[in-house]
Amino acid sequence: MSELPEVRIGIVGYGMMGKAHSYGYREAPRMRDLPVRPRLRLISGRRRELVEKAASAYGVEDVTTDWRRVVEGKDIDLVDICTPPGTHAEIAAAAAAEGKAVICEKPFATSYAEGREALVAARRAGVLNAVGFNYRRLPAVSLMKRMIEEGALGRVQLWRAAWLSDEFVDPEIPFDWRFERRMGGTTIADLGSHLIDMAIWMVGDIVEVSAQSATFVGERADPEKPGTVRPVTVDDASAALLRFSGGARGVLEMARSCVRRPCDFTIEVNGTRGTLRFDYARLNELQYGDGGDAAGLYGMRRIRAEHPSHPYAASWWPIGQGVGYGSSFVNQFADLLEAWPKGSFDPDFAQGLAVQAVCDTIERAAAERRWVRVEEIVGP
Ligand SMILES: NC(=O)c1ccc[n+]([C@@H]2O[C@H](COP(=O)([O-])OP(=O)(O)OC[C@H]3O[C@@H](n4cnc5c(N)ncnc54)[C@H](O)[C@@H]3O)[C@@H](O)[C@H]2O)c1
Repeated sequence: MSELPEVRIGIVGYGMMGKAHSYGYREAPRMRDLPVRPRLRLISGRRRELVEKAASAYGVEDVTTDWRRVVEGKDIDLVDICTPPGTHAEIAAAAAAEGKAVICEKPFATSYAEGREALVAARRAGVLNAVGFNYRRLPAVSLMKRMIEEGALGRVQLWRAAWLSDEFVDPEIPFDWRFERRMGGTTIADLGSHLIDMAIWMVGDIVEVSAQSATFVGERADPEKPGTVRPVTVDDASAALLRFSGGARGVLEMARSCVRRPCDFTIEVNGTRGTLRFDYARLNELQYGDGGDAAGLYGMRRIRAEHPSHPYAASWWPIGQGVGYGSSFVNQFADLLEAWPKGSFDPDFAQGLAVQAVCDTIERAAAERRWVRVEEIVGP
């Protein structure tokens, strides 16, 4: 057994993200040489039999049905929040007040005001804080950011992204937190927050948006009260036009109502000298159009984002084998543990809050059918 100091992790929520995060912690030391050893100490959920089953599958030592036991536990160093957005800010603030480091799944909160309270709590406590925008840590997405930074595109003029999913096409899917505005279940926050995070990261601050939203299935069966329905209070699909502080323009679309589109997202950036395009269905690749190429080479070349010189690639499989969704979580937690205990982490709560501000702005712009400045949400 390794002699490395331990980081004792408490995970709140055992659903899909509880599974993905526990996988990330367990695999991180296999892929990277880390200064600490992650220990999956505790996981919480509301139903004991289900959280016990999850703990056994995920390799977590102990369970609780009370999330406060996780944030207050003397045996916990890092609180990892994997519950619905409507619970994030309260748990994050409580964990910070107990002096715990916190990583919170996206979206950071259900509103800018709520998220700001969690940020203030983390700053007051001086604890390491992080938000789980894991897609940044796919090698190809990370390479895209690096190439933009290194000037491969010249000055960025246009950014566009779409995330199309068929998750809620079927009107028979019963009501859960994802259909409830109070729990932060909007499509804008669910799918859009990842894209907005990558937009700000790659291009800079978003200052103004216009938008439209639609809800196609207005009510869904209430699984808690058979024979009754609950109103859907979120969008099924939204689209926005964006203006960046540096002058670039953007187009963003997110929808959970697209038949036979599983989790299809694309990002394209056009600069004065080049174009870069990422397609999640081919997540180990980037397409690059270089305006400096000879005319005879006109077109987009396919970059295999797996070369050891590319971000993250050297710690993964030999070139040609590729990585997948799970690797983004392994990279996320390897980065977090590498910086332990005092290092800062990108994205942190402040960046999560900046994304939340844009989500709120898009919602307001759609509701009021006008251009809205992000300043209206965050203040001057
Ligand atoms: N980064 C990603 O790729 C990614 C993917 C999916 C979800 N997420 C985010 O992770 C978070 C959790 O999503 P998930 O897909 O794991 O959800 P899930 O529904 O699969 O699991 C939710 C967990 O939270 C618990 N919970 C606590 N309070 C709850 C409440 N009031 N209602 C419902 N469940 C409650 C549930 O018991 C369960 O353990 C969300 O913020 C979501 O946006 C991120």
